[in-house]
Amino acid sequence: MDSIIVTGNGPLKGQIPIAGAKNACLTLMPATLLSEEPLTLTNAPRLSDIKTMTTLLQSLGAEVSQLQDGQVIAMSSHDLDNHTAHYDIVRKMRASNLVLGPMLARLGQAIVSLPGGCAIGARPMDLHITALEALGAEIELKDGYLHAKAKGGGLKGAVHELRFASVGATENFVMAATLAKGTSVLKNAAREPEIVDLVRCLQKMGAQIDGEGTDTITIQGVDRLHGATHPVVTDRIELGTYMIAPAIAGGEVECLGGKLELVQAFAEKLDAAGISVEETDKGLKVARRNGRVRAVDVKTEVFPGFPTDLQAQMMALMCTAEGTATLDETIFENRFMHAPELSRMGAEIEVHGGQAKVHGVERLKGAPVMATDLRASVSLILAGLAAEGETRVSRVYHLDRGYENVVSKLRSVGAKIERVKEE
Ligand code: EPZ
Repeated sequence: MDSIIVTGNGPLKGQIPIAGAKNACLTLMPATLLSEEPLTLTNAPRLSDIKTMTTLLQSLGAEVSQLQDGQVIAMSSHDLDNHTAHYDIVRKMRASNLVLGPMLARLGQAIVSLPGGCAIGARPMDLHITALEALGAEIELKDGYLHAKAKGGGLKGAVHELRFASVGATENFVMAATLAKGTSVLKNAAREPEIVDLVRCLQKMGAQIDGEGTDTITIQGVDRLHGATHPVVTDRIELGTYMIAPAIAGGEVECLGGKLELVQAFAEKLDAAGISVEETDKGLKVARRNGRVRAVDVKTEVFPGFPTDLQAQMMALMCTAEGTATLDETIFENRFMHAPELSRMGAEIEVHGGQAKVHGVERLKGAPVMATDLRASVSLILAGLAAEGETRVSRVYHLDRGYENVVSKLRSVGAKIERVKEE
């Protein structure tokens, strides 16, 4: 397992290109199952999660190939010969559950392993199940697998309200409804940019969908979808992550491809903390105005609120802020595992259930720390950029799931960082 060693090296300066969104790509790829014609994605990120989704789709009979060093993903699901998503793949990545809706719609049946819990929470699938049952699916749990069948051989349009605006349940419902007979309306739908990107792609494939980006999405079922080529939207979580780098280490970094509308709530918190965020013709320029970062309170919410996937990174910034910041994590039940690791670096953090209080200190001290999940791992690297001395982050395979070329991207703006192989 590799480690990343980062040494506090003063202010950063330069440009960082932001890749296509992991969480958009992971729902766009299963959309290939909805059509017999080729679906090609451009601006795709080079990540281990994308490789896992590739393996899953290939196990169902889809042809998936990475072209142009992985930036293009060419897929064809003309001949699907298997409708079972096996546990050994699904357990590695929860997003595997996004093949459920498309397979039900295209094949009228699907067997998908339950993903099982993960580091940040139990992550059940009840919202996915009730949403697909509303479309006429019969779903039962057997030996850890969801066995799903479309009643009467095909899904039927329906009106359904989600108890909670779940991103994945919204994606599964919308994909399944594109081929259902009749009209479907999803209420309390998730509004994340990745949902909008999925709908844009489905519309190019011939789907009749309105309301994306709002809490009510209407889908008029069609008989079949055709192929398309679609660029993956910019990754707002990678964007927010690299916006924190100059905020915590000082200096100025331009995040190429960044758009304010993707990170509005997050950028407002950075502004309140004394960080300047400026739109340029190439992206977002972020700089720490003079003086110490100010503590600001944060509460994670569904989009367009503050994203839970940027909570760990914001906590790292608050560790050296002036004052005390309160972070309320309302989306996942166990998403403060970075806190004890940051405390090893001298941070003063009190965690009580879903709330963390961070008392800012002048400077963190480098230390050996351990990555526990994807976003926690990058928050430790961000903290290391500003810490005195060397921080060694172990188990960085978590990082490879969601961030491409972290070392080269940060090194290009002056960070002292390297990746080493551990025995
Ligand atoms: C997506 O996960 C993202 N993953 C997550 O990003 C992100 O944190 C999350 O949305 C929230 O924004 C992908 O898009 C691949 P949810 P998803 O369904 O769809 C509960 C990252 O770091 N819930 O909106 O699984 C669930 O337990 C990852 O890139 C149910 O109770 O999120 C959680 O507490 C982490 N029952 C909350 O809802 C269900 O059936 C949010 O889940 C489904 C979800």
